[in-house]
Amino acid sequence: MKYDYGFIGTGNMGGALSKALKNKTVALSNRTPEKAQELAKAINATATTNEDVARNSQYLMLGVKPQVLPSLIDEIREFVNPDTILVTMAAGVKITTIKELFNNPNAKVIRIMPNTPVAIGEGVVLASKNANVSDDEFNKFIDDFSDAGMIVPVDENLIDAGSVVMGCGPAYIYMYIDALAKAGESLGLDYDLAAKLAKATTIGSAKLSSVSDESLESLRIKVCSPGGSTIEGVHVLEDQNFDKLVLDALTAAYKRTKELAGE
Ligand SMILES: NC(=O)c1ccc[n+]([C@@H]2O[C@H](COP(=O)([O-])OP(=O)(O)OC[C@H]3O[C@@H](n4cnc5c(N)ncnc54)[C@H](OP(=O)(O)O)[C@@H]3O)[C@@H](O)[C@H]2O)c1
Repeated sequence: MKYDYGFIGTGNMGGALSKALKNKTVALSNRTPEKAQELAKAINATATTNEDVARNSQYLMLGVKPQVLPSLIDEIREFVNPDTILVTMAAGVKITTIKELFNNPNAKVIRIMPNTPVAIGEGVVLASKNANVSDDEFNKFIDDFSDAGMIVPVDENLIDAGSVVMGCGPAYIYMYIDALAKAGESLGLDYDLAAKLAKATTIGSAKLSSVSDESLESLRIKVCSPGGSTIEGVHVLEDQNFDKLVLDALTAAYKRTKELAGE
């Protein structure tokens, strides 16, 4: 094949993922071609047409919105080689649906769910495959995208639950950082300084929790001296049922994911 990886759709997610590939031949196409051309210059890839990408890519990354996927597949179906590995990142779209849209029960399909921090190499990408993709082909894919962040192989039936934690999660984390910053502001700090403190604290706390052998609860207790100030705030969060609020938010996102998937 002419290209190791081909991306059709170089928007937020397709564009971010393409930047993670190192030492690969990469082709890019996009409805607005200038976007693919500009990205191709930046990452030393080839900007080309949907047809060329579909014909000549070993891994074909489908980077369009879920609602655009059926018409895009109608356009490229006849060009795709039977050995090509189709990679879908469309939220809520199952591997079976991709096989049906391509009219090919033997299609090799990898389904991924990336989050936006892949743009800086600190993302999480859930990945599953169907039986037509060999272990070698799947492992190669996982290795090739290691610069995007943490690639986590999961059973496809766990992608929707996983995606509300890691895919929707950044939005909830940004809300929490913003809430910390606004609270700091109302206590007399400048908002920008409070946001800087909140962001650095979030990064540091997340990193410490990921390298430490201690549980999240134990790490929390270490910040809370009995009779001190932190524990007073913890009591307020507990009284307001913080865990339940987060559970309700994730449950709502999960229900909507299922609705969008037509389940
Ligand atoms: N953003 C996220 O956080 C996120 C997370 C997980 C999964 N995803 C999935 O990633 C996929 C892309 O989402 P996104 O956020 O990257 O959307 P996006 O920024 O809108 O990118 C979609 C790209 O597809 C291009 N496009 C549309 N129709 C096309 C066609 N027929 N041929 C070639 N290119 C075409 C668009 O071109 P134009 O430049 O002309 O608009 C646009 O650049 C979706 O399936 C989404 O579910 C996104």
